[in-house]
Amino acid sequence: MHFRSLALATVLYGASATLAWNHPNYKYVAIFSVDGFHSSDVGKYVSLRPQSTIAQLLETGYEYTNAFTSGPSDSFPGSMNQFTGASPRTTGIWYDDIWDRSYYPPFSTNMTRCEGPPGAEVEQAENLDYNSTELFSGGINPDNLPQTIINGKCQEIYPHMRLRVNTIWEIVEASGKETAYADKHPAYDIVRGPSGKGLTVGYFPEIQSIANTVNATIAYDQLHVDAFLDWIAGEGKTPEHSEIQGAGLTTTPALFGGNFQAVSVGQKTVGYTNGTTQAFTAPLLKALDFVDKSLGRVVSALKAKNIYEDTLIIVASKHGQAPINPALYRKVDPALIVPATGVNVSWVTTDDIALIFLEDQSTLSTAVAGLEKATSELQIQDIIYGPRLTALGYGNPLKDPAVPDIIVRVNLGVIYTTSTAKIAEHGGLSDDDRKVACFVSSSRLKKTVFDQKVSTRQVAPTVLKVLGLNPEELQGAKIQGTPLLEGF
Ligand SMILES: *[C@@H]1O[C@H](CO)[C@@H](O)[C@H](O)[C@H]1NC(C)=O
Ligand SMILES: *[C@@H]1O[C@H](CO)[C@@H](O)[C@H](O)[C@H]1NC(C)=O
Ligand SMILES: *[C@@H]1O[C@H](CO)[C@@H](O)[C@H](O)[C@H]1NC(C)=O
Ligand SMILES: *[C@@H]1O[C@H](CO)[C@@H](O)[C@H](O)[C@H]1NC(C)=O
Ligand SMILES: *[C@@H]1O[C@H](CO)[C@@H](O)[C@H](O)[C@H]1NC(C)=O
Repeated sequence: MHFRSLALATVLYGASATLAWNHPNYKYVAIFSVDGFHSSDVGKYVSLRPQSTIAQLLETGYEYTNAFTSGPSDSFPGSMNQFTGASPRTTGIWYDDIWDRSYYPPFSTNMTRCEGPPGAEVEQAENLDYNSTELFSGGINPDNLPQTIINGKCQEIYPHMRLRVNTIWEIVEASGKETAYADKHPAYDIVRGPSGKGLTVGYFPEIQSIANTVNATIAYDQLHVDAFLDWIAGEGKTPEHSEIQGAGLTTTPALFGGNFQAVSVGQKTVGYTNGTTQAFTAPLLKALDFVDKSLGRVVSALKAKNIYEDTLIIVASKHGQAPINPALYRKVDPALIVPATGVNVSWVTTDDIALIFLEDQSTLSTAVAGLEKATSELQIQDIIYGPRLTALGYGNPLKDPAVPDIIVRVNLGVIYTTSTAKIAEHGGLSDDDRKVACFVSSSRLKKTVFDQKVSTRQVAPTVLKVLGLNPEELQGAKIQGTPLLEGF
């Protein structure tokens, strides 16, 4: 019911009722995440490159200039925002490397099957690969998966099994249309959704196998772009190393897309210039130009196939990157966090955030008191815990084994790391982490800027609506009452 109710959207997001009209459906949706691409970068880029594809897309597009990705803003929950319409409390997806109080370690860790006390790290990144030094890493080694007991049986948990609600990919597939998605291996198994059937084709080369440089990442992203072009051509071709086996595509998929990582790597390694302008450094601009040129190739391919008019292009970043201003960058040793709590801690996820799981949840107030004393040493802006954590929409750690006991929000620019390689990171709660690029474009749209606050969760129901499917089928969006994007 929420999706049809503009009144609700107005209450939640302050939309103007005059902007709603019924769009005829689109046959295709092409959805891209330019990882790291901030809302503020869009305007900066377009003023530098007024002839760019991005500038042209905006000429017939809706731009959401106040769009926020998930909190935490790790790639995992950031993607789930767009693909399920729901937040970590609903999806159960908090981070690619975190803890779950009900899980057991992978078989490869200590050769046991759900033995000993529950509680284990859930890492769903390159660690799952057979061999992460290879671009096509042999798939997921089940021995590396965390385990849990389901119906009395110890089972390995693939990323897609950890997700609690369905995805747009599953719903589009189930409607008889085809889908295709490219991202890094193997984490994006999760995109398939809990049924594991959300993708006709998935293409997941392993990012860890390449150097952490802009040039190498551009070459890596080019693989994704080649896949997009193959998919648009719709000649039944699938990339040679397609991860999802099956008959392959028979036509241009109704829903396809993937991500770009070169901008994120440019931000982490080189970033923005100092001073008031905070302009793109040359390597970051090179990454942005590559993305822009690639989007141009997608547009050309859609036009060549004569389906551009029938396609809605969505560009929405899973995450931003903090800090934009390099002068704010400051690193703090993550090893200082646990001693500061003064209690036993099961697990801490650290980036430009800390997510703390206590060994004994009754030690919460002691742990918080310890962190409060260390606020300056640990560069803490806010300690979120207890009833306030639940009230802010993060779920309830006393009831949900995936919810951390304490969320530490850091001062802008602080990263809990010992790495000297990175000057920016994402995952945290700042605007630099969360205020992301978000726009949609099609030849049918009239240029409009929406400056009301929106969530990238709104992308999910919007995708289904424009494909003529029912947004209410999205379990997570329904639970959270996630409205469509404004204008739809
Ligand atoms: C490994 O398995 C044993 C049971 O054999 C269990 O007691 C222990 O906690 C497990 N180790 C870890 C690191 O979880
Ligand atoms: C992983 O792949 C690399 C590169 O092909 C190879 O050198 C290495 O031996 C492989 N490791 C294992 C454990 O197979
Ligand atoms: C990146 O590639 C360009 C050629 O495209 C080259 O000129 C440049 O030196 C390379 N940068 C680095 C850091 O290797
Ligand atoms: C920005 O200034 C800081 C010192 O305030 C310096 O460490 C950093 O290297 C500078 N970054 C750039 C991109 O100029
Ligand atoms: C903390 O862990 C240690 C080692 O496992 C244990 O001896 C100690 O009793 C624990 N402390 C508390 C307060 O549970």
